[in-house]
Amino acid sequence: MIKVGIVVGSIRENSFSEQLAKNLVELFPEGYDIEFIEIANLPLYNQDSDENVPEVYTAFRKTIKELDAVVFVTPEHNRSFPAALKNALDVGSRPYGSNVWDGKPALIVSQSPSNLSGFGANHHLRQVLAFLNVPVVQQPEVYIANVMDLLGEDGKITNQDTIGFLQTIVDTYVDFIKKH
Ligand SMILES: Cc1cc2nc3c(=O)[nH]c(=O)nc-3n(C[C@H](O)[C@H](O)[C@H](O)COP(=O)(O)O)c2cc1C
Repeated sequence: MIKVGIVVGSIRENSFSEQLAKNLVELFPEGYDIEFIEIANLPLYNQDSDENVPEVYTAFRKTIKELDAVVFVTPEHNRSFPAALKNALDVGSRPYGSNVWDGKPALIVSQSPSNLSGFGANHHLRQVLAFLNVPVVQQPEVYIANVMDLLGEDGKITNQDTIGFLQTIVDTYVDFIKKH
């Protein structure tokens, strides 16, 4: 079983990002165990906590370490990805020399309720992941615009073109995971 974690960049209840992520889960083939990773419970990272480590940090780092791969589904906040996601990346990257994200093949999906589609968030996230030594699927890039139009009342996407696109993305990512 290949363990894939999904980190949702929004900590808003029932966020569009989370709904979108749930649609992705169903597109993975057999043999993939997909788990949503909690980030809302992580206190704001402070280097002092390298000495006095909060239990939630230890649990979070262990969870990430045990993953084979990680998917980021994120909205854009002020032309970047949300602070909660940056905090989770920071927590996992420390103490210095024990970066738990290291080498985990990743997929980035950004979304917005407008036409913008989270381009800024998507690319700022790529910049941080490059430093954390996380290989990211380069193509196709995934920018989901007008997400509210795609999600039904039940959070499901029914538009066949969108489902087809997302299936291509997941298939590409599965190949990418195998290569790593
Ligand atoms: C602090 C803040 C900043 C935002 N900045 C942007 C932005 O730069 N670009 C954008 O497309 N949407 C921006 N938005 C709107 C988000 O795209 C919108 O809230 C979206 O629904 C968030 O996705 P979620 O449902 O997954 O939380 C911002 C929202 C907040 C709360």
